[in-house]
Amino acid sequence: MAINVTKSFLPPIEEYQEIIKGIWENTWLTNNGPLVRKLEGQLKEYLNIENLLFVGNGTIAIQIALKALNLTGEIITTPFSYCATTTSILWENLKPVFVDIEDKTYNINADLIEAAITEKTSAIMATHVYGRPCNIEKIESIAIKYNLKVIYDGAHGFGANYKGKSVLSFGDITTCSFHATKVFHSIEGGCIVSNDNNLNKKLELYRSFGHKNDDYYTMGINGKNSEFHAAMGLCNLPKVADIINNRRIISEKYDALLDWEKLSRPTNNIEGFDYNYAYYPVLFASEAKLLQVTEALKKEEITPRRYFYPSLNKLPYLDFYNPCPISENIAQRALSLPLYYDLALEDVELIVSIINKNL
Ligand SMILES: Cc1ncc(COP(=O)(O)O)c(C=O)c1O
Repeated sequence: MAINVTKSFLPPIEEYQEIIKGIWENTWLTNNGPLVRKLEGQLKEYLNIENLLFVGNGTIAIQIALKALNLTGEIITTPFSYCATTTSILWENLKPVFVDIEDKTYNINADLIEAAITEKTSAIMATHVYGRPCNIEKIESIAIKYNLKVIYDGAHGFGANYKGKSVLSFGDITTCSFHATKVFHSIEGGCIVSNDNNLNKKLELYRSFGHKNDDYYTMGINGKNSEFHAAMGLCNLPKVADIINNRRIISEKYDALLDWEKLSRPTNNIEGFDYNYAYYPVLFASEAKLLQVTEALKKEEITPRRYFYPSLNKLPYLDFYNPCPISENIAQRALSLPLYYDLALEDVELIVSIINKNL
C-alpha cells in the first residue's frame, strides 16, 4: 500500500456522528455555534491559554493577525517556512524582509534580525519550524528595543511546549493550523492566540465581518469556521496525547535506524523544549542524494515531501532578492519522511533500508 508523507487521523465514525447529531437538532451549522465555542473552551484549557479564536484555517489566522496589529511597511520574516507565511504578508500589501536561519534549528536566526531593521519595519513574523521554538527571548528583547510587534506562525506547534508553556503562547499573536495533516486537526481550521484581551476582541470582530448583530464596528473578513469542523476537533482533541505518543515511537525508530554518518537533522536539543513530533525532517549531504533517495522511495510507492522547498526568498513571484544562503542550502537538502499516527514500524524499517542503501 502506498505510504505518503502524512495521513490524516480519523476518529471512529460513530464518535463523529454522535457529536454532529446535535447539529440536526438545533440546525446551527456555522456562525459561532455551540460546538465552536465548546472547542474553543477545550483548546484554551488544553493549551492553558487565555485567548484563543477558532478560525477557518492557518492562513486566514495570519492575515487577520497582520491586519489587527495595524502593521505597515516591512515585516522581518523567515525564508524557511511554508509559502503561506510569506504570501500572507504579500496579500496584506506588506513587504517581507527575509532574514536567514540557524543551521541547528532551521528557525530564523535572531542574531541577524537587528541588521535587517529599517525605519519601515513594523513587525517580526517567525515560524516555529516543525514545532521547534524560535529564540523567543532574543526576539522579544529586539521587539521591545525597536518597538516592533511579534507574530509567530505556530502552524506546527500544537502540543509542543517551551519552558512549561505551549509553544503557541508567545509573542503578540501566535497562529496555528488545524489542517487535516497536522498533529491535531479539525479537517480545515486554525486558531489565533493573543495575550491581550482588547486585541482578542478586535481579532474576534475581524474574524466575522467586523460586526456583532446590527452593530458595525470595523471592517472584517470571513474567518469563521463551522460546527462540522469544530465537531472533528472535539473528537480529535482527547486523542492528541495518544497521537503524539505514537509519533514519538515512530520517530525513535527512525532515530535508531537511519545512517547518521551520512544524514543530519534539526536539533531537538533546545533547553526547556518538549517536542510534539510534528514532522520527521532529515538533511542529505547534497540535493542530488535527496533526489536519488526520493526516486528510490517512489519506486516503492513511498512519497516523502520536500518541506520546505523552495527557500521562500526565492519564490518566483517576488520582485526582489534577499540572499539567505543557509536557508537556500537547507531547502535543497531537507526531506520530510512519512510520519503519522498508524505508520507501521515495519514500514519505517522498509523506508530506512531504502534510504540507507542510497546514501
Ligand atoms: C508554517 C505554516 N504556516 C501556515 C500554514 C497554513 O495553514 P493552513 O493550511 O491551515 O492554511 C501551514 C500549512 O501547512 C504551515 O506549514
